[in-house]
Amino acid sequence: MIPSRRREVAANGGERGARMTRTQVGIIGAGPAGLVLALLLRRRGIESIIIEARSREYCVQRIRAGVLEHGTVELLEANGVGERMRRQGLVHGGIYLRFAGRSRHIDFPALTGKTITVYGQHEVVKDLIADHLAANQPLHFEVSDVAIGDLETNRPTIRYRNANGAEQTIACDVVAGCDGFHGIARDAIPAGVLTAYERVYPFAWLGILSESPPVAHELIYTHHARGFALFSQRSPQIQRMYLQCAPDEDLAEWPDDRIWSELHRRLEGKDVPNLVDGAILQKGVTAMRSFVVEPMQYNRLFLAGDAAHIVPPTGAKGMNLAIADVSVLADALASFYADGGTAQLDAYSARCLRRVWRAERFSWWMTSMLHRSPHDDAFGERLQLAELDYVTTSEAASRSLAENYVGLPLDPTPGPSRAV
Ligand code: FAD
Ligand code: PHB
Repeated sequence: MIPSRRREVAANGGERGARMTRTQVGIIGAGPAGLVLALLLRRRGIESIIIEARSREYCVQRIRAGVLEHGTVELLEANGVGERMRRQGLVHGGIYLRFAGRSRHIDFPALTGKTITVYGQHEVVKDLIADHLAANQPLHFEVSDVAIGDLETNRPTIRYRNANGAEQTIACDVVAGCDGFHGIARDAIPAGVLTAYERVYPFAWLGILSESPPVAHELIYTHHARGFALFSQRSPQIQRMYLQCAPDEDLAEWPDDRIWSELHRRLEGKDVPNLVDGAILQKGVTAMRSFVVEPMQYNRLFLAGDAAHIVPPTGAKGMNLAIADVSVLADALASFYADGGTAQLDAYSARCLRRVWRAERFSWWMTSMLHRSPHDDAFGERLQLAELDYVTTSEAASRSLAENYVGLPLDPTPGPSRAV
């Protein structure tokens, strides 16, 4: 039912003015959530239109996440956008936790039978946009003044101005708010419907992209008295590294020499990994926040990805969660278009939130274990070191970290419940 082929009409009887387009699913935002949703819907024969505030060039150059969970890799491959990822992505069998001046390895295949893939989010976005446009699917870049209307009806609308400034309206069966943390979709929901849960951390990450060789064959998460550092990668030639800094850190105070010297200091100790200085191609400061709204839906508007939840990047979960959300949403929409039933759509938020809260817990835990908090005392630091020691020596604790890092199943099977 609800077959709605895309068509365009002038909203005011053919006069010059707002163009009205009709689609099944209107998607706001061409980040990982919006693009993967459009792909999964296309594979199920459901039409969509994506609108995006930025230019295509901006979207494919925005440096953000780097770690793809096992399930994310499988989903991209199964849907025909894994070819370049398979060739260029770096398959990693674990991570290093470095603390008290030495590195300990967490072996993912041994503990979980799974691996992760290091492949930049901007590369994922590049592949998804290329695939979408090659299939002649609508994606409008550089839109502005985006607003969602008619949310109390079964025919919500998206109004916006296109890149030429002309007013447009899309009439939809469903709107997917995939417009990130600073988007407009969450705020379109009437006051009082959502409950927000939030934690803001008293530190941030100074991230760099450098032209230099890899520091190790896998990522190194470093606990150090001067603050956390992370040594990640993008390719054999390009590395991604982060230093814990203040939330209001002034980049002007971080010339390249200071960054390299600080990265070296945070690696000091035994068996020092081989950090080689190189040209710094990009620098930026990222704030750290945990945030969830409940529920993730209101009538025919569904929030997905960073529009509904944020994690601090220490667990490498944000992009993976965004993709998990839209895979639940695509299944629910397929069921809706198959027989008009809304049971799966109604269950969308609860099904996603269970996984979201597990990822929130893991990301908060990794962050708390590895960062120096200005509120912490020497006792707190000793607890962190004890936790790191435990997690790298107890098989049960290592496995817990590993199974969260490679990605938890969408719907974990509950253990048996027993009367007490
Ligand atoms: P976004 O990627 O933010 O996409 C939203 C899109 O909507 C954007 O293109 C935006 O331009 C557009 N938009 C916004 N407003 C509007 C509007 N009004 N109209 C139209 N379009 C609009 N996650 C991981 O999984 N692994 C990692 O290793 C990892 N590392 C990270 C490191 C850093 C430094 C940072 C900052 C993040 C990291 N993340 C990581 C998180 C990850 O980048 C995000 O969770 C991910 O981008 C969320 O995808 P999304 O599609 O929900 O939102
Ligand atoms: C990255 O490569 O950008 C990256 C890797 C792991 C993280 C966060 C970011 O936890």
